[in-house]
Amino acid sequence: MYSFIASWASLCSLLIFVSSVNAAVPDKQGILAQLRKNGACCTALDYFLPDKVHFNILTDAAYANSQHSFWAAQPQSLTPTCIVIPTSTQDVSTAIAILSIANQASIRGCQFAIRGAGHTPNKGANNIDGGVTIDMQSMDQVVVSDDRKTVSIGPGNRWRNIYPKLDELNLVMVGGRASQVGTGGLVTGGGISYFSGRYGFVCDNVKSFEVVLANSSIITASNTKNSDIFRALKGGSNNFGVVTRIDTALYPQEKFWGGTIAQPITNKELLWPFLSTLTASANFDPYAAIIINFAWLAGVPSIVNNVIYTDSDATWPPPSLQPLDSMPKISTTIRKDALTSFTDELAATLVITTGRLNIFSTLTFINDVEATPEFLAAVFDIVDATAKELLTVVGLIFTCSFQPIPRTIYAKSAGTGGNVLGLERFDKDFINFLFSLSWQLPIDNARVEAALKTAEAAIVDLAKRSGLYSEYVYLNYAAQWQEPVKSYGAQNVQFMRGVSKKYDPNGLFQKAVPGGFKLGI
Ligand SMILES: Cc1cc2nc3c(=O)[nH]c(=O)nc-3n(C[C@H](O)[C@H](O)[C@H](O)COP(=O)(O)OP(=O)(O)OC[C@H]3O[C@@H](n4cnc5c(N)ncnc54)[C@H](O)[C@@H]3O)c2cc1C
Ligand SMILES: *[C@@H]1O[C@H](CO)[C@@H](O)[C@H](O)[C@H]1NC(C)=O
Repeated sequence: MYSFIASWASLCSLLIFVSSVNAAVPDKQGILAQLRKNGACCTALDYFLPDKVHFNILTDAAYANSQHSFWAAQPQSLTPTCIVIPTSTQDVSTAIAILSIANQASIRGCQFAIRGAGHTPNKGANNIDGGVTIDMQSMDQVVVSDDRKTVSIGPGNRWRNIYPKLDELNLVMVGGRASQVGTGGLVTGGGISYFSGRYGFVCDNVKSFEVVLANSSIITASNTKNSDIFRALKGGSNNFGVVTRIDTALYPQEKFWGGTIAQPITNKELLWPFLSTLTASANFDPYAAIIINFAWLAGVPSIVNNVIYTDSDATWPPPSLQPLDSMPKISTTIRKDALTSFTDELAATLVITTGRLNIFSTLTFINDVEATPEFLAAVFDIVDATAKELLTVVGLIFTCSFQPIPRTIYAKSAGTGGNVLGLERFDKDFINFLFSLSWQLPIDNARVEAALKTAEAAIVDLAKRSGLYSEYVYLNYAAQWQEPVKSYGAQNVQFMRGVSKKYDPNGLFQKAVPGGFKLGI
């Protein structure tokens, strides 16, 4: 009797499953018929995904909301023909089925962009002119597993939707440091966290990705299942599919130390040896995290450090941060609190850049306790000259940052299935350098870009002469003209191309998704 009921139940659920799949994923002939009828992707998408497809019309608030939720003005200036806002993995699969068939049939207007919270300022990486943008922001679930070891997050989340839920449980995941930033891009591009010293890059804490492939099938990729695409997605960004769920490790965490320390600019000569010593693997304190920021306002530089110490039992200042704490200060907000408090604090300082023209570009320096302090002082002079040269750019906010990336951080990748960043091949400690500029008027775009490229070339030249140059380019900070994928090294590029050929044989994500950093095949 029991088995009769059980098999009846499973038959029913099978029928429900089959019929729901049929309703949601139309067959190829049905899709082609719709595409031929209207000759347009958006109309076909709208037909199969009613209420999920939004057009640039006054009555469609969802389109306008999506367009206004980018960080930078550059992607916001693009006008997709329609924006698909999926609320389930099945919706994404349906959209990809249509887009895949349409692109094979060479229907026009069917190129597409994938976006998370839209924090890359690079034009075309997360939005598209005259095509389809898949805005993942409604896929923002946060589900903590019963054993409190994993959290399952939708890739459209912003950290501000995740961290408060984890704070309440005295748990953290390894994620971004500013509340408003998105997850989908940050995780698949690597991800630097306040917890990276202890647990590695954000991507290296992922236990599994759910992904919609080019043929619309839904797979799970982990260290034991589809492990090749699992590794490729850790650094490979939008090259392999649409990530629809990220399951990632949780760690117990009580309130910890952190805040911002503003210092007089005269401290800079003290900061270089401090940063270099802190970054050296031999001394590296895994609980310490820092972003040393310089900001120029009206050509005058100032120093603001984002400082974190995640050992809850420590007293302030811990020995590794004591040299910083003992330098002259203008102000400090150092306190013990939960993660959201610190990510909100960073978010607040970045609000003024939201909706404006923004640009990132990045370089990687080898850390060497002997040579680095003098080198960083010289880097500062190049940056300072660039900031002064751009003084007349309207509304310019000119900042640069330095962050330690010691071997300790990237060496953790091997234990969790690896990534494609390729850092292990160097076996060095690194300092990440980031330019972040924000301004008001498009007429200044060319000037800003030219000045950054010139400064970059000068710094690269100096780094090479000092023996401190690294070709590695951090994807999430890279400017449009940089080549982060290539910087992962020939072996990783070859590996990623192989993964692309296997999971996306027609190259949908290479050809039909033109934006972002591609594999070059
Ligand atoms: C204010 C600010 C603070 C930041 N802080 C940090 C930080 O602490 N640590 C750090 O490492 N980085 C940081 N970054 C950089 C950040 O990692 C990138 O901007 C990243 O792209 C943001 O992710 P997103 O989901 O908002 O990306 P989006 O701009 O939406 O997307 C970025 C790229 O990822 C792809 N992508 C997004 N979602 C998916 C998906 N579901 N499937 C497949 N591809 C997808 C897109 O196609 C696009 O090419 C910061 C950026 C800003 C502006
Ligand atoms: C979709 O592609 C994957 C990866 O190439 C393959 O394993 C799977 O069989 C394909 N599914 C269908 C229905 O063709």
